[in-house]
Amino acid sequence: MYDIKKLVILTSGGDAPGMNAAVRAAVRSAINNGIEVYGSLSGYHGLVKQELNLLEANSVANIIQLGGTILKTARCEEFFQKDIRKQCCEFLSKNNIDGLIVIGGDGSFRGATLLHQEGGPHVIGIPATIDNDIVGTEYTIGFDTARNTALEAIDKIRDTASSHNRDFMVEVMGRRAGFLAVDVGVAGGAECILTPEFPSTVEQLAYQLSHPKRKKESSIIVVAEGDAPGHTIDLAKRLNQLANKDYKVCILGHTQRGGSPTALDRKIASRMGAKAVEYLLAGMNNKMVARVKDDIVPVDFPKPEQPSRNFDDQELLKLNEAICQ
Ligand code: F6P
Repeated sequence: MYDIKKLVILTSGGDAPGMNAAVRAAVRSAINNGIEVYGSLSGYHGLVKQELNLLEANSVANIIQLGGTILKTARCEEFFQKDIRKQCCEFLSKNNIDGLIVIGGDGSFRGATLLHQEGGPHVIGIPATIDNDIVGTEYTIGFDTARNTALEAIDKIRDTASSHNRDFMVEVMGRRAGFLAVDVGVAGGAECILTPEFPSTVEQLAYQLSHPKRKKESSIIVVAEGDAPGHTIDLAKRLNQLANKDYKVCILGHTQRGGSPTALDRKIASRMGAKAVEYLLAGMNNKMVARVKDDIVPVDFPKPEQPSRNFDDQELLKLNEAICQ
């Protein structure tokens, strides 16, 4: 067993429901193995400010059901400066920290790898983002809660849409990938799903929606926000002109990031948190805890040149087209 005496845990990047469950599992698994655990607040900012907070078993009591993260989170630009990381390395080594667990997305993992390469402690990453788009893992903490939150909203929109015979465009999150849009669209019975991987022009959309075969009195189009949050407002304006319709727009935005995590997110986060400690104790380093074919396994961190996983299940989109008419 690798000798780990003190480790630091942090949550970084966009928050995701279930991060707390992962923190809880990692803290308690580490303590059970005689390791002292410290939290760095607001991601890497805690390291930059050279502030660590001791976490005990009861520091993580009653948090499994909470959305957000008790450790706070942030995207820390400063950490991408080499001299700042050097100071962090020195600080960690002075405090005899031999392990670091980073819960977040690929940007957070890039920071962890750099820190390790420059003399920092052994690092293990736990993937957490509502986008589910991290290369190397089939699941990221927060995705299930976000898709259920969005689905609940869509079900409500459908009630008002069908009462008024109205058409709606609902924008969901997903900066580079359409996993959230597709799952929510299929489960919510959306008539069209637009993703960054399979975009449609307004002309194609107008043609599709005004097809004589379409008999529906109301419809819902789910649109992934992509890298332009709010772009659905403009899309609806152009579509309204072209198709002579009146699409209402609802942008779900950050509501999808909050809320109490689902059972699935709590369970996966608990398993991943415990595995991160197990991997450190096994001497592993620079690895990510991943879900692959329903198992939890160690994999390499995503390569910087391949930053995100794309949605590619065209069969599912075809199925939706066939059953949404
Ligand atoms: O990556 C997660 C995510 O919620 C994306 O879906 C979204 O595009 C982005 O973060 C929003 O980021 P911010 O927290 O900076 O508003």
